[in-house]
Amino acid sequence: MDRGYLFGDGVYEVVRVYNQKPFALDRHLERLERSLSGIRLKNPLSRNELQSLILTLVEQAGFLDAIAYLQITRGGGARQHAFPVDSHPTLAIFVSPVHSSAKEYRERGVKIITLPDDRWAHCNIKSINLLPNILAKQTAKESGAYEAVFIRDNNVVSEGSSSNIFAITHGEIITPPADKHILAGVTRGYSLEMARKAGYSVREETLKLEELRLAEEIFLTSTTMEILPVVELDGNPVGQGQPGDVAPILRSASQVLYAIFLIRFSSKQYFIDDP
Ligand code: PDD
Repeated sequence: MDRGYLFGDGVYEVVRVYNQKPFALDRHLERLERSLSGIRLKNPLSRNELQSLILTLVEQAGFLDAIAYLQITRGGGARQHAFPVDSHPTLAIFVSPVHSSAKEYRERGVKIITLPDDRWAHCNIKSINLLPNILAKQTAKESGAYEAVFIRDNNVVSEGSSSNIFAITHGEIITPPADKHILAGVTRGYSLEMARKAGYSVREETLKLEELRLAEEIFLTSTTMEILPVVELDGNPVGQGQPGDVAPILRSASQVLYAIFLIRFSSKQYFIDDP
């Protein structure tokens, strides 16, 4: 009778684990709190309690490269649409290994397609209601593409079905603003910070499909995709049809970030607020 199962009444996080260490856990737990308050659900545990649970599970699981999935639902009770008065949230966490083919994708780049954004109006909440996202990803897969990118009215670009999108036009990096139409990706946030530090001109602005089609370079970001170049959009080559320069530069910058993360992690500082 869990409301997560019956209604999709819950929120989630996916944290990447590198060398048995959860990356950017602070930012994921921060966003979890924002998502919980977005659906008016009280966090059943404190941030410290959640953090140590995740660290313990990651250690017990023992996988070097993994993801930690965390889901909180409004819990069980009689099936009624309004929130039950006495519900107890359900927390579920699992850790599973990642056998990533990321390197191959990164070197060759991936194909993407665009689809109408038919999701709900609060995409900033990391809700477990992912049916439109799942349908979009399946359509992409069936068309031989890796990802589908949602397009709203007036040809405005939102984000991928499970990723954020960046375009480079006239040497400038553009990504849609973190409003309620997209999920404010943790990887998106880091990518923006690294791009600014690397001296790129960066704009968080409305991106039109026409601009995306003319982009010199496109890349996707997510916890599991990391920073992934796109070489084809709706059957047409992006730029020269080869992975561009900016994505690998940001990836190299992220390795520095990861080195800092390792140092802080070994001194038990799990939070990296200022990369
Ligand atoms: N999803 N947009 C959507 C709709 C997403 O589902 C995700 C990630 C992102 C990127 O966010 P982040 O960089 O914080 O991972 C953007 C996770 C990985 C998933 O559902 O598996």
